[in-house]
Amino acid sequence: MIGIFDSGEGGINALREIKKRAPWIDVCFLADRKNAPYGTKSESELVELVSRDIERLLLIGANKILMACCTASTVYPLLDSRLRSAALPIISPTAEAAAAATVNGKVGVIATEATVSSGAFSTALSRYGSVKQTFEVPAQILVQMVESGISDGRAPDVTRAKIRRLLSPIRESGADTLVLGCTHFCRLKQIIAGSLPGVRIISSSLSGALEMLKDTPHHGRGETVYID
Ligand code: DGL
Repeated sequence: MIGIFDSGEGGINALREIKKRAPWIDVCFLADRKNAPYGTKSESELVELVSRDIERLLLIGANKILMACCTASTVYPLLDSRLRSAALPIISPTAEAAAAATVNGKVGVIATEATVSSGAFSTALSRYGSVKQTFEVPAQILVQMVESGISDGRAPDVTRAKIRRLLSPIRESGADTLVLGCTHFCRLKQIIAGSLPGVRIISSSLSGALEMLKDTPHHGRGETVYID
């Protein structure tokens, strides 16, 4: 069995991407709604919460755990080595996908407050020669929107206009690639893409799911257990 966790709705996107490609996989999905949002927490609070999430999934019997939360993944290097060896953070595969997608070398990132202030995406992207400049924009408000039920199919015009305004620094930067650096934002992918014509959109949920699938069992009963 694999484990997947997030502070809430975002991880569901990664779960769906995995199940679409490998429906036989047994999954335990943990949504730590009690402590959400993660994006406004301090580094030490995140280390504590994320360690607890991984421990819980290990105890339930997960043998590999997808950290389906970019904010949680920012503290991966600070975790105990036993927890690190069981967990897969999603920032590296997402940065790799963005580096492969950019043509002009300008990559935008929208993420939670904690992820932007950690600089984790800029650091990961700077490892690739194809990336010349990164533009990180905090977009914590999108987490609240998604948690309140807003998605591509369910967003009033006023919300669409708000998202469009939030993305104006990305439009002005000339970035040809945008990283959805929070798994919640994948629920708003079409609205975001519609606000940034011609920009390639990189989903952290999909990148994390694909990385996880490289190393997952080819058998199982296809069960999904939800815990919070
Ligand atoms: N979905 C999470 C992420 O990828 C965090 C959202 C939050 O709880 O602030 O960063």
